[in-house]
Amino acid sequence: MCGIIGYIGSRQATPILIGGLSKLEYRGYDSAGVSVWNEGASRVVRCRGKLSGLVEKLTKEPAPGTMGIGHTRWATHGRPSDENSHPHKVGPISVIHNGIIENHLALRQELSAAGAKFSSETDTEIFAHLVAHALTAGAPDLTTAVRRSLLKVRGSYAFVVMSDKEPGTLVAAKNSSPLVVGLGDGENYVASDVTAILSETRRVIFVEEGEMVVVKRDGVTLMDFEGKVRTREPKTITWSAVQAEKGGFKHYMLKEIHEQPRAVADTLVGRIDLEHDDVSLDGIELDVSKIKRVIFIACGTSYHASMVGEFLVEGLARIPVDVDFASEFRYRDPIVGPGDLVVAVSQSGETLDTMEAIREAKKKGAQVFAISNVVEASIPRLADHAFYTHAGPEIGVASTKAFTTQLIGIALLAIHLGRRTGSLSKERARELLAELIALPNKMRDIVESGAQIQAIARRYGNATGFLFLGRGSQFPIALEGALKLKEISYIHAEGYAAGEMKHGPIALIDEHLPVVVLVPRGPSYEKTVSNLAEVRARQGKVIAIATRGDNEIGGHSDDVIVIPDTALELQPILTVLPLQMLSYYVADFKGTDIDQPRNLAKSVTVE
Ligand code: AGP
Repeated sequence: MCGIIGYIGSRQATPILIGGLSKLEYRGYDSAGVSVWNEGASRVVRCRGKLSGLVEKLTKEPAPGTMGIGHTRWATHGRPSDENSHPHKVGPISVIHNGIIENHLALRQELSAAGAKFSSETDTEIFAHLVAHALTAGAPDLTTAVRRSLLKVRGSYAFVVMSDKEPGTLVAAKNSSPLVVGLGDGENYVASDVTAILSETRRVIFVEEGEMVVVKRDGVTLMDFEGKVRTREPKTITWSAVQAEKGGFKHYMLKEIHEQPRAVADTLVGRIDLEHDDVSLDGIELDVSKIKRVIFIACGTSYHASMVGEFLVEGLARIPVDVDFASEFRYRDPIVGPGDLVVAVSQSGETLDTMEAIREAKKKGAQVFAISNVVEASIPRLADHAFYTHAGPEIGVASTKAFTTQLIGIALLAIHLGRRTGSLSKERARELLAELIALPNKMRDIVESGAQIQAIARRYGNATGFLFLGRGSQFPIALEGALKLKEISYIHAEGYAAGEMKHGPIALIDEHLPVVVLVPRGPSYEKTVSNLAEVRARQGKVIAIATRGDNEIGGHSDDVIVIPDTALELQPILTVLPLQMLSYYVADFKGTDIDQPRNLAKSVTVE
């Protein structure tokens, strides 16, 4: 997830690009750059770090000119560095990109064989080479060169391309990543989201999937990838700047809940190997003969993802798994050594407890595999292997899309291990891969049905406590549901293994206690239904999360929220969504500060 902006007109481009990028920094902040055209050539200025670093650099190396593109990066391919910052320039071509080029390895090999020299580790530079190559191969203009290059690229993208040889034209294209055109008077804009251009214009055209747009000073032309022109009436944006930053959602948390199908799809890109019924961990090859045990260490929501990991790794790879709080691991003189694969899970990659636990594990000879959402953060740098989720920056303190993408990362790791221990057959792996690919659409189905969950939240929003119950891999989801509700609504909530309820918490149940029961289809379905009946017998209010098509559950519950069916191993990735939404709507009903709940910080760098 990166922020992109382009400007063409008669004013100086750099201040407009920087103004836009400052609104986009929430989309990525590990590096920034601009390319501005002036008198026959463009000048690229870019640097690692926050936008303020680029601004400082530009005061020493100004980039004057009336046409330019700018980018703020959230690294996916290649660590944050000056060289990997956008724009990427190849010959006369400057390119900025938001998204992931899925077939980047094959294209890089093909281009290298044809003599291309690369100066970065990014997938984006490949596109600059493709466009430059198309022009030398005879494409009559930039638009045609971009169109021919798009035919070779698979993945998600919004590109903006500029050529030194064709001043007066910006060419942009969209597939899955957002792109909007802003209309001015004798000047026009293109950006990843309206926030970037709202201070300049409110007249916009949203570019749709599979569309290109040619942006000139005096007009814009929309077309499909075949060059067929399309027309669309501009819209006038009435959102405030703050609303626009949240994509029209009331809070970042709600926006991030809705981003999950995209985040999961991005995390899967390039990692599914259907040809071999296997997964690719970005070149990491774990030697399972040396792994006697897997130990997950993490905190908070990442700890809950790790608990699901226990089911996935033990179930698919048949390797014994331990899960520990990072804050406890280090202080109990853990028995850990060379036969252990320690999996450290952290959204921010900076949590101090997790970092110290890794140090302890490494000191004792274990190899460490980190799953992080932030490229080159301290935790992945400390680990022996770093695997990245591609959720994009998570702004809301309550973790949502980071959690579901962690589950994807862990599922991929479990499949990788399972295929290598031999306990996961090709056939089962194929089924699981197909289910993974189908997940984003199923997730969309859930996040788009917020009205029912909002109504339930209003009904129970005044409760003073909630109980969440689940069995098996739904138990960590019960814990996560309780954590989410506590964090943002300040209502006391407990997560319990459903079978444990009768050993104590059942005493809490009365007509005032809403009990959320995770009861998707599966081997513990009947047992969980019995627990649910026990709650109802004591007048507890039951909100069931069940599989679509379950006709029995309605008879045992006050409310049923249905989720689509999927493989048993992947159910937690779907069942958690209604719980995130329930917490969100309860907190919204209570009017708490959802994105910055009291006493909490996004990144916990103290022990
Ligand atoms: C989740 O909603 C939290 N805000 C918190 O529990 C978080 O998951 C925890 O602090 C761990 O952070 P990390 O994933 O960045 O290491």
